Amino acid sequence: MYTPDPYRYDGRMAYRRAGRSGLLLPAISLGLWQNFGEDSSPEHCEILIRYAFDNGITSFDLANNYGPPPGAAEALMGRVLRQSLRPYRDELFITTKAGHDMWPGPYGSWNSRKHLLSSLDQSLRRLGVDYVDAFYSHRYDPSTPLEETVGALADAVRQGKALYVGLSKYPADVAARAYDALEELGVHCLLYQGRYNLYCRAPELDVLPQAAARGVGFVAFSPLAQGLLTDRYLHGIPAGSRATHSPFLRPEQLTKEVLERTAQLDALARGRGQTLASMALSWLLRDARVTSVIVGASSTRQLGENLEALYHTDFDEETLRRIDEIAAPPAQP
Ligand SMILES: NC(=O)c1ccc[n+]([C@@H]2O[C@H](COP(=O)([O-])OP(=O)(O)OC[C@H]3O[C@@H](n4cnc5c(N)ncnc54)[C@H](OP(=O)(O)O)[C@@H]3O)[C@@H](O)[C@H]2O)c1
Repeated sequence: MYTPDPYRYDGRMAYRRAGRSGLLLPAISLGLWQNFGEDSSPEHCEILIRYAFDNGITSFDLANNYGPPPGAAEALMGRVLRQSLRPYRDELFITTKAGHDMWPGPYGSWNSRKHLLSSLDQSLRRLGVDYVDAFYSHRYDPSTPLEETVGALADAVRQGKALYVGLSKYPADVAARAYDALEELGVHCLLYQGRYNLYCRAPELDVLPQAAARGVGFVAFSPLAQGLLTDRYLHGIPAGSRATHSPFLRPEQLTKEVLERTAQLDALARGRGQTLASMALSWLLRDARVTSVIVGASSTRQLGENLEALYHTDFDEETLRRIDEIAAPPAQP
């Protein structure tokens, strides 16, 4: 039987308020997009999830289509809940999403009320829970009236199937309209989820300041650029790494230029007494507008290294300037 670490809330994890809400999220969340499908060992996945929880990670990010195959990550999380975490459901913040391709036919994708609410019901069944903590619209759908999407999100809350709602990857102008439309329905948008890391600074232009101004918590996904912002690829492409099997990170992306920049960042991080993975996360967390960074990990060693980021969020001006110079300039309008 699993007994969680009794010291998991001893201060090792920082909890940050999600925008204008009563909710605290761990500064580091665990995402189940990759590494938690049927191609991974369920026992290994369970070890990773328990390790996260033992270290104060209360927030687990999923989506209907995470796998492979789609649905497998939610089924895996359901198994872990059944086997270990069910008694701790009230200590967990479990999120899911709908909007990407999930099942065949006209209702299996995008943002119709039909897709969003059917998908949420499927997610609840796979997870084996009565409600998720947050339900996201996974992407903007220009063909569906925004009112329909927002209405479905608000109804998920009214029906008690989601406690909160969020948006993912919406352009800033549409996010602004969605925040307003939700407020009109009496539902405050809790979270905005966007790709943000040292190699992708675009959110600084609009969605990050906008979320802060609107009282919406900003959650950064792919904070390590899927592994590029670590030492994973500095000496070749290791067997089993994401670049060997994922359509989302191809070996062609590991250009000489990227690897050179990564090596320089790695040296800078080591000079600060941390690894590059840890520094890349610390850099995001130095900004109080970032509520949580959702990391992926394929081992407890990686996750442990990533948790070190919590202790190094101070940066002097010269280091920040140097990071901008090597990684990418701050986003410009
Ligand atoms: N809303 C959206 O549309 C959206 C899109 C993408 C992601 N997300 C969310 O964000 C989560 C995280 O995304 P992500 O997996 O791309 O995050 P990431 O943290 O940028 O990348 C994770 C990968 O980096 C490598 N890694 C992690 N820690 C490492 C370390 N300490 N040393 C060396 N390598 C390390 C591992 O690669 P290996 O597997 O090679 O070991 C791991 O699988 C997802 O699970 C999902 O929940 C949301």
